[in-house]
Amino acid sequence: MHLRDSVVIVTGASRGIGRAIADRLAAEGSLLVLVARSAGGGGQGEGEGPAPRWVTGDVVDPDTARKAVAAALESFGRLDAVINNAGLGLRAPVWRIAPEDLRYVLDVNLIGPLNFIRAAVPPMVERGRGLIVNVSSAVARRPVPSLGGYAATKAALLSLSETLRMELSGTGVEVLSVLPGSVETGFKSAARGEPYPERPGAVRLEPTDVADRVVRAMAAGRREVAVLSRSERLALLAGRVAPGLVEKALLRRYGGGGSPGDGPGQGV
Ligand SMILES: NC(=O)c1ccc[n+]([C@@H]2O[C@H](COP(=O)([O-])OP(=O)(O)OC[C@H]3O[C@@H](n4cnc5c(N)ncnc54)[C@H](OP(=O)(O)O)[C@@H]3O)[C@@H](O)[C@H]2O)c1
Repeated sequence: MHLRDSVVIVTGASRGIGRAIADRLAAEGSLLVLVARSAGGGGQGEGEGPAPRWVTGDVVDPDTARKAVAAALESFGRLDAVINNAGLGLRAPVWRIAPEDLRYVLDVNLIGPLNFIRAAVPPMVERGRGLIVNVSSAVARRPVPSLGGYAATKAALLSLSETLRMELSGTGVEVLSVLPGSVETGFKSAARGEPYPERPGAVRLEPTDVADRVVRAMAAGRREVAVLSRSERLALLAGRVAPGLVEKALLRRYGGGGSPGDGPGQGV
Protein backbone atom coordinates (compact mmCIF):
# COMPACT_ATOMS: atom_id res chain seq x y z
CA MET A 1 0.00 0.00 0.00
CA HIS A 2 0.98 3.61 -0.53
CA LEU A 3 1.64 5.10 2.93
CA ARG A 4 1.58 8.86 2.22
CA ASP A 5 -1.91 10.23 3.02
CA SER A 6 -3.16 6.74 3.92
CA VAL A 7 -5.54 6.73 6.91
CA VAL A 8 -4.41 4.25 9.56
CA ILE A 9 -5.82 3.20 12.95
CA VAL A 10 -3.12 2.03 15.40
CA THR A 11 -4.24 0.35 18.63
CA GLY A 12 -1.98 0.33 21.69
CA ALA A 13 -0.35 3.55 20.48
CA SER A 14 0.32 5.08 23.91
CA ARG A 15 3.74 3.40 24.29
CA GLY A 16 6.03 0.59 23.14
CA ILE A 17 5.70 -0.93 19.68
CA GLY A 18 2.40 0.86 18.88
CA ARG A 19 3.91 4.24 19.63
CA ALA A 20 6.95 3.47 17.45
CA ILE A 21 4.67 2.36 14.58
CA ALA A 22 2.60 5.57 14.92
CA ASP A 23 5.76 7.71 14.83
CA ARG A 24 7.14 5.84 11.82
CA LEU A 25 3.83 6.12 9.92
CA ALA A 26 3.64 9.85 10.71
CA ALA A 27 7.12 10.25 9.23
CA GLU A 28 5.83 8.52 6.07
CA GLY A 29 2.96 11.05 5.86
CA SER A 30 0.11 8.76 7.02
CA LEU A 31 -2.96 10.23 8.74
CA LEU A 32 -3.53 8.54 12.09
CA VAL A 33 -6.28 7.54 14.49
CA LEU A 34 -4.61 6.32 17.68
CA VAL A 35 -6.23 4.08 20.28
CA ALA A 36 -5.33 3.12 23.88
CA ARG A 37 -6.94 3.39 27.31
CA SER A 38 -4.65 6.37 28.01
CA ALA A 39 -2.92 8.75 25.62
CA GLY A 40 0.45 8.02 27.29
CA GLY A 41 2.94 10.88 27.35
CA GLY A 42 1.43 12.50 24.23
CA GLY A 43 3.23 13.48 21.05
CA GLN A 44 2.80 10.08 19.35
CA GLY A 45 2.41 10.08 15.60
CA GLU A 46 3.02 13.79 15.27
CA GLY A 47 4.65 14.68 11.98
CA GLU A 48 4.31 17.45 9.44
CA GLY A 49 0.71 16.55 8.52
CA PRO A 50 -2.54 16.91 10.50
CA ALA A 51 -2.34 15.94 14.19
CA PRO A 52 -3.48 12.38 14.91
CA ARG A 53 -6.97 11.80 16.30
CA TRP A 54 -7.08 10.00 19.67
CA VAL A 55 -9.80 7.56 20.68
CA THR A 56 -9.32 6.54 24.31
CA GLY A 57 -10.98 3.27 25.26
CA ASP A 58 -10.55 -0.42 25.91
CA VAL A 59 -10.16 -2.56 22.78
CA VAL A 60 -12.29 -5.25 24.45
CA ASP A 61 -15.27 -2.88 24.23
CA PRO A 62 -16.70 -3.06 20.65
CA ASP A 63 -17.69 0.63 20.98
CA THR A 64 -13.99 1.61 21.01
CA ALA A 65 -13.50 0.00 17.58
CA ARG A 66 -16.71 1.54 16.20
CA LYS A 67 -15.63 5.01 17.47
CA ALA A 68 -12.14 4.64 15.94
CA VAL A 69 -13.53 3.67 12.52
CA ALA A 70 -16.08 6.53 12.72
CA ALA A 71 -13.26 8.95 13.66
CA ALA A 72 -11.24 7.89 10.60
CA LEU A 73 -14.21 8.26 8.24
CA GLU A 74 -15.38 11.59 9.75
CA SER A 75 -11.92 13.19 10.07
CA PHE A 76 -10.26 11.91 6.93
CA GLY A 77 -13.08 10.54 4.75
CA ARG A 78 -11.72 7.00 4.47
CA LEU A 79 -9.92 4.15 6.25
CA ASP A 80 -6.94 2.42 4.61
CA ALA A 81 -5.48 0.26 7.38
CA VAL A 82 -5.97 -0.96 10.94
CA ILE A 83 -3.01 -2.11 13.02
CA ASN A 84 -4.18 -4.40 15.82
CA ASN A 85 -1.22 -3.95 18.14
CA ALA A 86 -2.74 -3.47 21.65
CA GLY A 87 -2.05 -6.52 23.76
CA LEU A 88 -0.46 -7.82 26.93
CA GLY A 89 1.57 -10.72 28.27
CA LEU A 90 0.90 -13.58 30.65
CA ARG A 91 3.68 -15.50 32.32
CA ALA A 92 3.20 -18.74 34.28
CA PRO A 93 3.78 -22.44 33.71
CA VAL A 94 0.59 -23.84 32.15
CA TRP A 95 -0.33 -25.74 35.30
CA ARG A 96 -0.22 -22.52 37.38
CA ILE A 97 -2.17 -20.24 34.98
CA ALA A 98 -5.14 -18.63 36.74
CA PRO A 99 -8.11 -19.08 34.39
CA GLU A 100 -9.23 -15.48 35.03
CA ASP A 101 -5.80 -14.23 33.89
CA LEU A 102 -5.95 -16.25 30.66
CA ARG A 103 -9.56 -15.14 30.05
CA TYR A 104 -8.55 -11.48 30.46
CA VAL A 105 -5.47 -11.74 28.21
CA LEU A 106 -7.44 -13.67 25.58
CA ASP A 107 -10.06 -10.92 25.63
CA VAL A 108 -7.50 -8.18 24.99
CA ASN A 109 -5.26 -10.14 22.57
CA LEU A 110 -7.99 -11.83 20.52
CA ILE A 111 -11.43 -10.24 21.05
CA GLY A 112 -9.85 -6.75 20.87
CA PRO A 113 -8.49 -7.34 17.33
CA LEU A 114 -11.74 -9.11 16.37
CA ASN A 115 -13.72 -5.99 17.39
CA PHE A 116 -11.58 -3.84 15.07
CA ILE A 117 -11.81 -6.40 12.24
CA ARG A 118 -15.62 -6.46 12.55
CA ALA A 119 -15.82 -2.65 12.50
CA ALA A 120 -13.24 -1.99 9.75
CA VAL A 121 -13.67 -4.75 7.18
CA PRO A 122 -17.18 -3.83 5.91
CA PRO A 123 -16.25 -0.26 4.82
CA MET A 124 -12.96 -1.56 3.40
CA VAL A 125 -14.69 -4.28 1.34
CA GLU A 126 -17.24 -1.75 0.14
CA ARG A 127 -14.42 0.51 -1.05
CA GLY A 128 -12.52 -2.44 -2.55
CA ARG A 129 -9.27 -1.78 -0.67
CA GLY A 130 -7.75 -1.88 2.79
CA LEU A 131 -5.26 -3.61 5.05
CA ILE A 132 -5.61 -5.33 8.43
CA VAL A 133 -2.34 -5.81 10.35
CA ASN A 134 -2.41 -8.18 13.33
CA VAL A 135 0.50 -8.14 15.78
CA SER A 136 0.91 -11.72 17.01
CA SER A 137 4.22 -13.04 18.40
CA ALA A 138 7.07 -15.40 17.52
CA VAL A 139 5.90 -17.63 20.40
CA ALA A 140 2.72 -18.35 18.41
CA ARG A 141 4.95 -20.75 16.44
CA ARG A 142 7.71 -21.63 18.97
CA PRO A 143 6.60 -22.82 22.43
CA VAL A 144 8.64 -21.34 25.29
CA PRO A 145 8.31 -22.52 28.92
CA SER A 146 6.05 -20.27 31.04
CA LEU A 147 4.63 -18.47 27.99
CA GLY A 148 2.08 -21.17 27.02
CA GLY A 149 -1.00 -19.14 27.97
CA TYR A 150 0.23 -16.01 26.22
CA ALA A 151 1.34 -18.05 23.19
CA ALA A 152 -2.13 -19.62 23.00
CA THR A 153 -3.72 -16.16 22.68
CA LYS A 154 -1.20 -15.12 20.00
CA ALA A 155 -1.56 -18.43 18.11
CA ALA A 156 -5.33 -17.88 18.14
CA LEU A 157 -4.81 -14.38 16.71
CA LEU A 158 -2.44 -15.73 14.05
CA SER A 159 -4.98 -18.37 13.06
CA LEU A 160 -7.73 -15.75 12.84
CA SER A 161 -5.44 -13.51 10.80
CA GLU A 162 -4.42 -16.22 8.29
CA THR A 163 -8.03 -17.36 7.83
CA LEU A 164 -9.24 -13.77 7.36
CA ARG A 165 -6.59 -13.27 4.66
CA MET A 166 -7.98 -16.23 2.69
CA GLU A 167 -11.59 -15.16 3.22
CA LEU A 168 -10.89 -11.64 1.92
CA SER A 169 -8.99 -12.70 -1.21
CA GLY A 170 -10.41 -10.95 -4.25
CA THR A 171 -11.97 -8.13 -2.20
CA GLY A 172 -8.93 -5.82 -2.36
CA VAL A 173 -8.55 -6.05 1.44
CA GLU A 174 -5.18 -7.53 2.51
CA VAL A 175 -4.08 -9.01 5.84
CA LEU A 176 -0.57 -8.89 7.32
CA SER A 177 0.48 -11.00 10.33
CA VAL A 178 3.41 -9.72 12.42
CA LEU A 179 5.48 -12.06 14.62
CA PRO A 180 7.98 -10.13 16.76
CA GLY A 181 10.56 -11.76 18.99
CA SER A 182 11.56 -10.20 22.31
CA VAL A 183 11.29 -6.39 22.25
CA GLU A 184 12.45 -3.87 24.88
CA THR A 185 9.19 -2.21 26.06
CA GLY A 186 7.09 -1.88 29.23
CA PHE A 187 5.40 -5.17 28.24
CA LYS A 188 6.73 -7.16 31.20
CA SER A 189 5.42 -4.77 33.85
CA ALA A 190 1.92 -4.75 32.27
CA ALA A 191 1.77 -8.58 32.01
CA ARG A 192 -0.49 -10.83 34.08
CA GLY A 193 0.66 -13.89 36.04
CA GLU A 194 4.04 -14.33 37.69
CA PRO A 195 6.76 -11.65 37.49
CA TYR A 196 9.29 -11.88 34.66
CA PRO A 197 12.77 -12.44 36.11
CA GLU A 198 15.33 -9.81 35.16
CA ARG A 199 17.87 -11.06 32.61
CA PRO A 200 20.57 -8.39 32.47
CA GLY A 201 22.49 -8.45 29.21
CA ALA A 202 19.72 -10.20 27.23
CA VAL A 203 19.65 -8.92 23.64
CA ARG A 204 16.25 -7.56 22.69
CA LEU A 205 14.91 -5.70 19.68
CA GLU A 206 13.96 -2.03 19.97
CA PRO A 207 10.35 -0.96 19.22
CA THR A 208 11.70 1.06 16.28
CA ASP A 209 13.14 -2.17 14.74
CA VAL A 210 9.63 -3.65 14.74
CA ALA A 211 8.06 -0.42 13.47
CA ASP A 212 10.50 -0.23 10.53
CA ARG A 213 9.81 -3.82 9.49
CA VAL A 214 6.04 -3.47 9.87
CA VAL A 215 5.90 -0.29 7.80
CA ARG A 216 8.11 -1.82 5.10
CA ALA A 217 5.95 -4.98 5.03
CA MET A 218 2.81 -2.82 4.71
CA ALA A 219 4.32 -0.90 1.80
CA ALA A 220 5.48 -4.12 0.11
CA GLY A 221 2.11 -5.90 0.46
CA ARG A 222 3.59 -8.80 2.50
CA ARG A 223 1.30 -11.32 4.20
CA GLU A 224 3.64 -12.11 7.11
CA VAL A 225 6.69 -10.59 8.75
CA ALA A 226 8.74 -12.14 11.58
CA VAL A 227 10.92 -9.59 13.38
CA LEU A 228 13.65 -11.47 15.23
CA SER A 229 17.06 -10.80 16.71
CA ARG A 230 20.00 -12.75 15.28
CA SER A 231 20.00 -15.25 18.17
CA GLU A 232 16.23 -15.78 17.85
CA ARG A 233 16.64 -16.46 14.11
CA LEU A 234 19.39 -18.99 14.82
CA ALA A 235 17.27 -20.71 17.52
CA LEU A 236 14.36 -20.95 15.08
CA LEU A 237 16.55 -22.52 12.40
CA ALA A 238 18.10 -24.93 14.90
CA GLY A 239 14.60 -25.89 16.08
CA ARG A 240 13.76 -27.08 12.56
CA VAL A 241 16.86 -29.26 12.35
CA ALA A 242 17.06 -30.55 15.95
CA PRO A 243 13.82 -29.77 17.82
CA GLY A 244 14.70 -31.99 20.82
CA LEU A 245 18.01 -30.24 21.38
CA VAL A 246 16.45 -26.78 21.17
CA GLU A 247 13.75 -27.80 23.65
CA LYS A 248 16.43 -28.92 26.10
CA ALA A 249 18.31 -25.66 25.64
CA LEU A 250 15.10 -23.65 26.25
CA LEU A 251 14.40 -25.65 29.42
CA ARG A 252 17.97 -25.09 30.64
CA ARG A 253 17.67 -21.36 29.93
CA TYR A 254 14.14 -20.64 31.08
CA GLY A 255 13.34 -23.50 33.47
CA GLY A 256 10.37 -25.83 33.33
CA GLY A 257 8.30 -24.05 35.95
CA GLY A 258 9.05 -26.62 38.66
CA SER A 259 9.80 -23.80 41.09
CA PRO A 260 8.08 -20.38 41.26
CA GLY A 261 11.19 -18.51 40.01
CA ASP A 262 11.61 -20.66 36.91
CA GLY A 263 10.70 -19.22 33.56
CA PRO A 264 11.75 -16.94 30.77
CA GLY A 265 12.93 -13.41 31.25
CA GLN A 266 11.88 -12.42 27.79
CA GLY A 267 8.95 -10.33 26.75
CA VAL A 268 7.56 -12.08 23.68
N1 LIG B 1 7.43 -6.59 23.82
C1 LIG B 1 7.60 -7.78 23.28
O1 LIG B 1 8.60 -8.47 23.55
C2 LIG B 1 6.59 -8.30 22.29
C3 LIG B 1 6.96 -9.41 21.52
C4 LIG B 1 6.05 -9.95 20.61
C5 LIG B 1 4.80 -9.38 20.47
N2 LIG B 1 4.46 -8.32 21.25
C6 LIG B 1 3.11 -7.77 21.07
O2 LIG B 1 3.24 -6.43 20.61
C7 LIG B 1 2.13 -5.66 21.05
C8 LIG B 1 2.62 -4.39 21.73
O3 LIG B 1 3.38 -4.78 22.87
P1 LIG B 1 4.39 -3.78 23.60
O4 LIG B 1 5.62 -4.57 23.90
O5 LIG B 1 4.50 -2.51 22.88
O6 LIG B 1 3.61 -3.60 24.99
P2 LIG B 1 3.40 -2.29 25.92
O7 LIG B 1 4.61 -1.44 25.91
O8 LIG B 1 2.90 -2.82 27.21
O9 LIG B 1 2.22 -1.51 25.16
C9 LIG B 1 0.94 -2.07 25.07
C10 LIG B 1 0.01 -1.06 24.43
O10 LIG B 1 -1.32 -1.64 24.37
C11 LIG B 1 -2.24 -0.78 25.05
N3 LIG B 1 -3.27 -1.61 25.68
C12 LIG B 1 -3.09 -2.64 26.54
N4 LIG B 1 -4.27 -3.15 26.91
C13 LIG B 1 -5.22 -2.43 26.26
C14 LIG B 1 -6.63 -2.46 26.22
N5 LIG B 1 -7.33 -3.37 26.94
N6 LIG B 1 -7.30 -1.57 25.45
C15 LIG B 1 -6.61 -0.63 24.73
N7 LIG B 1 -5.28 -0.56 24.70
C16 LIG B 1 -4.59 -1.44 25.48
C17 LIG B 1 -1.41 0.00 26.05
O11 LIG B 1 -1.97 1.27 26.36
P3 LIG B 1 -2.88 1.58 27.65
O12 LIG B 1 -2.28 0.85 28.81
O13 LIG B 1 -2.82 3.08 27.74
O14 LIG B 1 -4.25 1.09 27.30
C18 LIG B 1 -0.12 0.23 25.26
O15 LIG B 1 -0.28 1.32 24.38
C19 LIG B 1 1.30 -6.57 21.97
O16 LIG B 1 0.24 -7.14 21.24
C20 LIG B 1 2.30 -7.65 22.35
O17 LIG B 1 1.67 -8.87 22.68
C21 LIG B 1 5.32 -7.77 22.14
